[in-house]
Parts: sequence; structure tokens; C-alpha cells
Amino acid sequence: MAKRCAPATERNREAILAVLHSHLPNQGTVLEIASGTGQHAVFFAQHLTPRYWLPTDIDATNLASIAVWREEADVANLLPPRQLDVCDPTWPIDSDLPAPITAIVNINMLHISPWACCEALFAGAAEILIGGAVVMLYGPYKRDGLHTAPSNAAFDEQLRSQDPEWGVRDLEAVVDVAVEQGFACQKVYEMPANNLSVIFERG
Ligand SMILES: C[S@@+](CC[C@H](N)C(=O)[O-])C[C@H]1O[C@@H](n2cnc3c(N)ncnc32)[C@H](O)[C@@H]1O
Repeated sequence: MAKRCAPATERNREAILAVLHSHLPNQGTVLEIASGTGQHAVFFAQHLTPRYWLPTDIDATNLASIAVWREEADVANLLPPRQLDVCDPTWPIDSDLPAPITAIVNINMLHISPWACCEALFAGAAEILIGGAVVMLYGPYKRDGLHTAPSNAAFDEQLRSQDPEWGVRDLEAVVDVAVEQGFACQKVYEMPANNLSVIFERG
């Protein structure tokens, strides 16, 4: 069965949607990097019209799942999923989109991928976004070098034991990468379950 389920998406989606409502430009296409199952994509597309939502992922199994969720939901502004590895030097974003990309959303990827993915995310965002466009990140982060909760520290250890290149990132290090690429950190929200939403704006 191609359709996958991630129960966490149903727990965090309302809180994330409130942040997106406050910060996404009113028009354009939202590029979601690392869409996972596709559940977020369906929900956010339904609630964020008239914007288009473009789901992507590196993983073929996830792309198949997104396609099934999309077909079942039948949401007009949810575009077909595309394969995108954030580390590819060129992203599959061309002029065939119905509206230009005005925002990038990336949920729960930076800790489950090597640090190079963070650098590639902002380098790619700088290539395709114009001034005023937004990047929104969501996930667990350390602040000033410290975990924000014991559960995040345990999660970090578990991630690193799975892959030494993974791990909960320092928010300040992520902001440094963003600033180098011309993005300003506009707002940080404390979210349920010790996660953060971080909003960047292209200068
Ligand atoms: C924990 S899942 C989060 C999925 C979804 N955003 C969510 O919140 O349910 C991490 C996702 O990152 C994707 N991913 C990992 N490395 C990636 C890369 N280099 N480029 C794009 N996506 C990547 C995985 O395929 C997976 O879908």
C-alpha cells in the first residue's frame, strides 16, 4: 500500500497552520521540501487557498504516498509531487508552475539529515526566492547550545546513534547559514511538544 501515515502530522498541523497563516505571502506557490507522507500537504493546501502547494521529497516511497493522499483529497490547489533532493545543485522548479514560488516550508527534516542539507536548503532558497519571500522551518532545536527539554536531548542521542550526521540542530547555527544566504530571521515561535517554528524573510 503506497499510502503512509505519520500520526504526528495530525497533532502538529493546526499549530503550524496558524503560523503559516500569519507569515505566508497571500499569493503564489508554496514549495514544501521533505513532505513525507503527504498528509500535511493535503491539509495545508485545503486551508491556504488561493496559494498553490507544491509537495516534494527525496524518497520515492514518500512520493507515492503523497500522490495517493492527493488523489483521494482532490484539492485543486495541491500540485502533483516532485522528487527533490535538497542537496541537488538544481531543483526541479521551472516556469511550468501556475504561480511563482513565494515561500518554502520545511518541517522536521534538518535533524534527520546531514548538516549539508541545511546549507543546501538556504543556498537553493536563495536561488529561487525573491525579496519578501519566506522560509518557514519547523522542528526541535537547541538554543544557545542547550536542549530546550530532556525529551529533545534523548531524541538527539537517539538520532546520533542512528546516524552520526543527524541530530537536533543549534538554532543559532541555522540562523547563521540563513543570514549568509541573505535571509533574516523574523520570528521564532515556541510550539507544542518542544518544537519551534522559525520564520525567515529574503532581504
Ligand atoms: C521526519 S520526516 C518529516 C516528513 C514531514 N515533513 C512530516 O513532518 O511528517 C523527514 C523527511 O525528510 C526527507 N528528507 C531527508 N533528506 C532529504 C533531502 N536530502 N532532500 C529532501 N528531503 C529529504 C525524508 O524523505 C522525510 O520525508
